[in-house]
Amino acid sequence: RFRHLCRSRNMLEVFKLEAAKQISALSGISSETLIPMLEAPKNPENGDMAIAIPRLKLKGNPVQLAKEFAEKIQKNEFIVGATNAGPFLNLRISKTLQRDLLLKSVFEQGSTYGKCEIGQGKKVIVEFSSPNIAKPFHAGHLRSTIIGNFIANVHAANGYETITMNYLGDWGKQYGLLALGFGKYGSEDELLKDPIKHLFDIYVKINVDAESDATIHDQARSYFKRMEDGDAEVLSLWSRFRDLSIEKYKQIYARLNINFDVYSGESQVNEYMEKAYEMLEQKGLIEDSQGAKIIDLEKYKLGKVVVKKSDGTTLYITRDIGAALQRYETYKFDEMYYVVASQQDLHLKQLFKILDLLELGWAKKCYHISFGMVTGMSTRKGNVVFLDDILKEAQETMHSVMLKNENKYAQIEKPEEVADLVGISAVVVQDMSARRIKNYEFNMEQMVSFEGDTGPYLQYAHSRLSSIIRKADRKLDANIDLSTLSEPCALEVVDILAQYPDMVKNLMQGFEPCTVVHYSLKLSRALSACLEQLWVMNQPDHLALPRLVLYTAAKITLGNALRLVGLNPLDRM
Ligand code: ARG
Repeated sequence: RFRHLCRSRNMLEVFKLEAAKQISALSGISSETLIPMLEAPKNPENGDMAIAIPRLKLKGNPVQLAKEFAEKIQKNEFIVGATNAGPFLNLRISKTLQRDLLLKSVFEQGSTYGKCEIGQGKKVIVEFSSPNIAKPFHAGHLRSTIIGNFIANVHAANGYETITMNYLGDWGKQYGLLALGFGKYGSEDELLKDPIKHLFDIYVKINVDAESDATIHDQARSYFKRMEDGDAEVLSLWSRFRDLSIEKYKQIYARLNINFDVYSGESQVNEYMEKAYEMLEQKGLIEDSQGAKIIDLEKYKLGKVVVKKSDGTTLYITRDIGAALQRYETYKFDEMYYVVASQQDLHLKQLFKILDLLELGWAKKCYHISFGMVTGMSTRKGNVVFLDDILKEAQETMHSVMLKNENKYAQIEKPEEVADLVGISAVVVQDMSARRIKNYEFNMEQMVSFEGDTGPYLQYAHSRLSSIIRKADRKLDANIDLSTLSEPCALEVVDILAQYPDMVKNLMQGFEPCTVVHYSLKLSRALSACLEQLWVMNQPDHLALPRLVLYTAAKITLGNALRLVGLNPLDRM
């Protein structure tokens, strides 16, 4: 039955297509136009799909039309009911047909369930994380890191070719300071042991020194000038700092499941800075202001932007202009995303405006993914926060919480590794619980709880499914008769599973990670209701097998959702 339909990867679309065909016959409007207008009704009691008749712009009274359409819709295997609520036409679909088609389809698609091809043939660059060598990896970088990874995953799931890029803060006068500080306080051993922390310590010390000795800043400036002039001696020290830091960053990113295709950075822009500067001059955008070179963006309420200091050295924005140009010429991207905290809203507006004034067609394809602040983040070591300290603390806290909760946990082979993954989930899910732009308060105690909307709760839901499936140890296939699976709680889970592909597609509007977190929580709660009623253990095959198919499809979908936000779904905890 309906074999051909199973080729569709999104079962809701199969039902929409059928509904659209019928509405098309009644209204004369094409199915393609109608399909995107079919939405879930605000009130689920009204049905499974609704269309607002006024949107069709037909002649006649919309309420009357909705009523007339509801009467004329033919009931068949797909559509089992039609009513109107005012100008809305509400349709009910066959839940049993949906169950049969959907579970089979999820079962067969596995880890690709929810993927689609709308981005086929398009290339995007997602620039994120981008910490500054010698400064702490702060909360803003943590958010950029996990949100950016999510943005990249969403693009990949929608079929885009995705290039992940880390644009390190590895250039500028502060490297002059750092080099001076290294001369005074540096230790080879410390540098090799933990370059990120050692460089930071030096940076703090030399800044303290500079407070009482103003010449230090002048020395730093001239040191940086030597760097920009390409002095091999000073560059070799700087490049060691950079290489060692990247090595250490890579370890942290690996722990978070994150991989960068490109480690770029402010230092890598090189000749593109000059190239960009020449273009700016040619367009007559550069003005002189007491020896410094500026671009006046007052007209656009974006202030005046200094692009070259009077000593000829460049600035953060100058490097960003060059970097954008370099990236376009290197990758010919279709879209580029900058995942950067809202403190830099103005900076990115200035950057995009300048690219636009250069009349670069792709300037309109650059987007800023902004996000709010995390407050109250500190670790036992103090207020200067390094990402690996946060992760370590989350891991340790999680470990002690789980030891208290579960005696099974202690029997797991490598409990520390599990605690690490659950700890990361706690941090990530808390970060993604609300809309990106909102500030939130970092709360270790709340995020590690198994109750409430937390990472541990989601991981627990996933590992519980895994454990039921593992213990049942049955061979399942996509052709198992599912007809006994008719309890409302099971059909509710099927409904939620069916929404997954649309959710993934809709993430392309707004890129809100909280959508996935909320979806996963909704699914986990519906499942927990199911697991209480629909047992597998000691049940006869005609009940146990369809339930196992349901739980397998749910595990696949929940796992895919968790991977989308960058988590490793756990099978045991
Ligand atoms: N390194 C910068 C910082 O930590 C963030 C870089 C953002 N990206 C960019 N292309 N400007 O503040």
